Amino acid sequence: MIPPLLILRNITLSLGDTNLLSGAELIVSKRDRICLVGRNGSGKSTLLKIAAGQVEADDGERYVEPGATLRYLPQEPNLTGYETTRAYAEGELAPGDDPHRAQYLLEQLGLTGEENPLTLSGGEARRCAIARTLTSEPDILFLDEPTNHLDLPAIEWLENELKNSRSALVLVSHDRRFLENLSRRTVWLNMGVTQQIEKSFTAFEPWRDKWFEQEELNRHKLDRKIA
Ligand SMILES: Nc1ncnc2c1ncn2[C@@H]1O[C@H](COP(=O)(O)OP(=O)(O)OP(=O)(O)O)[C@@H](O)[C@H]1O
Ligand SMILES: [Mg+2]
Repeated sequence: MIPPLLILRNITLSLGDTNLLSGAELIVSKRDRICLVGRNGSGKSTLLKIAAGQVEADDGERYVEPGATLRYLPQEPNLTGYETTRAYAEGELAPGDDPHRAQYLLEQLGLTGEENPLTLSGGEARRCAIARTLTSEPDILFLDEPTNHLDLPAIEWLENELKNSRSALVLVSHDRRFLENLSRRTVWLNMGVTQQIEKSFTAFEPWRDKWFEQEELNRHKLDRKIA
């Protein structure tokens, strides 16, 4: 068996008095196509940040295969501190990466490279951040709401880039079609814990509804027992 690239086990995180994460897990292997889903505010971005090494959990295990490369696109990219969109997009070029790729990606995404990052619209900022994230092909690519503010041609372009990428993908998105087209495993974050199916997002809603039905049934049974 090929060992996983990344393992999160029994991750806990509290914010104030709320236990946002209380035993979450995530295992990423080579070329995985994972979507991480859950209600608004359920902690998807936080779990993604922990996986990407941006935030430290209160407790739990995080293992990254030695030498594995990770890239992370935040839900709210911060472009301050760069003179041009090109400078920002080139910001994560690693030794061995093609230096022209940043410019190529910017142009594919409708930017020239000369724009001032501080005067961009939401969509332009997102496209610039996507260019930066895609300058190399890491082992794992974490993308938080990559299609936010994008028009359909840009979404389709991104989908195609990701389909052809050799990176493992961990995606958080409210764009159902995007998830349906790209995911092969669905990780559901619900009430601080994760559970998963080895299926695309297409299977998510029936699975979730069934789970809630079963929970309801168990609660009834328990109530009767107590009565
Ligand atoms: N640094 C922080 N300090 C305090 N509260 C935070 C912090 N980061 C996140 N939260 C809270 O934790 C909860 C989960 O946030 P998170 O952004 O991880 O959820 P999410 O599932 O990504 O939500 P959305 O679908 O809206 O993007 C939210 O209630 C949020 O307000
Ligand atoms: Mg989020």
